[in-house]
Amino acid sequence: MLEKMTNGSKRGDGGRTAGEQQDEDRAMIRLEALTKRYPGQRQAAVEELDLEIPAGRIVTFVGPSGCGKTTTMKLINRLIEPTSGRIHLDGRDVTEVAPHVLRRNIGYTIQQGGLFPHRTVADNIATVPRLLGWDRERIAARVDELLDLVGLAPQTYRRRYPKQLSGGQQQRVGVARALGGDPQVMLMDEPFGAIDPLNREALQNEFLRIQAEVRKTIVFVTHDIDEAVKMGDRIAIFGDGGVVHQYDTPERILADPADDFVSDFIGAGASVRRLSLTPLGALPVPDWPTVGDSAGGEERAAAARRAGHGHLMVLDDDGRPAGWLRVEDGAPGERLPLLTPLGPDATLFDALDRMLAANSSALAVVDGDGGYRGVVTMDAVRELINSTAAHAPRPHGSGGSDALQEV
Ligand SMILES: Nc1ncnc2c1ncn2[C@@H]1O[C@H](COP(=O)(O)OP(=O)(O)O)[C@@H](O)[C@H]1O
Ligand SMILES: [Mg+2]
Repeated sequence: MLEKMTNGSKRGDGGRTAGEQQDEDRAMIRLEALTKRYPGQRQAAVEELDLEIPAGRIVTFVGPSGCGKTTTMKLINRLIEPTSGRIHLDGRDVTEVAPHVLRRNIGYTIQQGGLFPHRTVADNIATVPRLLGWDRERIAARVDELLDLVGLAPQTYRRRYPKQLSGGQQQRVGVARALGGDPQVMLMDEPFGAIDPLNREALQNEFLRIQAEVRKTIVFVTHDIDEAVKMGDRIAIFGDGGVVHQYDTPERILADPADDFVSDFIGAGASVRRLSLTPLGALPVPDWPTVGDSAGGEERAAAARRAGHGHLMVLDDDGRPAGWLRVEDGAPGERLPLLTPLGPDATLFDALDRMLAANSSALAVVDGDGGYRGVVTMDAVRELINSTAAHAPRPHGSGGSDALQEV
């Protein structure tokens, strides 16, 4: 299941005021000519890096191993000091802030959660609230609230030790701990890197859901381009020596890679990946011929004559898809069952996936209430892939390709 995505960001912009929106477009983290050269290193790990990370968004850092992603994260929260350059956090130079104060305002997660093995789950999550001097009751309430948020029942898990948890559960606790003191910023260094693919997808979806609630400014490091595309509102593609080859939205990176390094890194599947960025809800509404389930014989015949050939979408009395009616030579024929319709948050990738799995060439699309909205066809998806391969305009919004189409 792919998580919902709106045009604005992966945490949803529903109900935001213009003021809030503007506030969130400001840079929360600003890196200026940031350079880190480790002692004895010939090549800098990070060189003259300039980057702005907008408030309330997820920026993914992606690139091959050793290209300076972790170094950049450690520079941001001052686990290491830069050789030169500046880092601003919420408009303030971080060197003006004592590191321990800074780190309370920055949640940090690493692979395998990085939990303290000899402390319970509750104690792990309480790390920063304790440093902040919260009272016992407030800390206990916060621990339970965060366990709920990451999908772990507080009763069951708060007294366990990390080794009594699965990898995925440890990672959830890691996320809860990073959120502990309600920091403005979260730095997540390959947080789901050690998790098997199925649990990983669940964690990704859950994390996007959590972000829709908490709206933190997040730097998320991964070496997996698919994860970068899925999680990022923007992606920074890192190459050797901490050089950023492209910093842009996933859509633009996949559609228009800045150079050969980026093209090679995103690989051959770029056009298919772009399908997963296009929610059906963002595509134009089609006009597939329909017929009511309770329509009389005459009405059915008339609808079939109009359609001529192919299939009519049968709608129940509430306007929900109920099945297909085959039409041959202008006459109604056999009634065919319906595959589960796709909702507005499903993407073109989901549509393609389901059509291939079910050996079907068309699927009904419904709105949030299950009401009929249209039909997505294999031909339409294919057309979109072709147009993407030719670097055509993005399918989002107006002027895009009619992926949901007429008969
Ligand atoms: N403590 C260190 N001392 C010396 N070199 C280091 C240290 N940490 C990382 N490096 C080097 O800096 C480069 C960038 O490393 P890192 O930031 O960990 O990359 P990434 O997270 O992208 O895999 C690599 O060449 C790595 O070997
Ligand atoms: Mg790393």
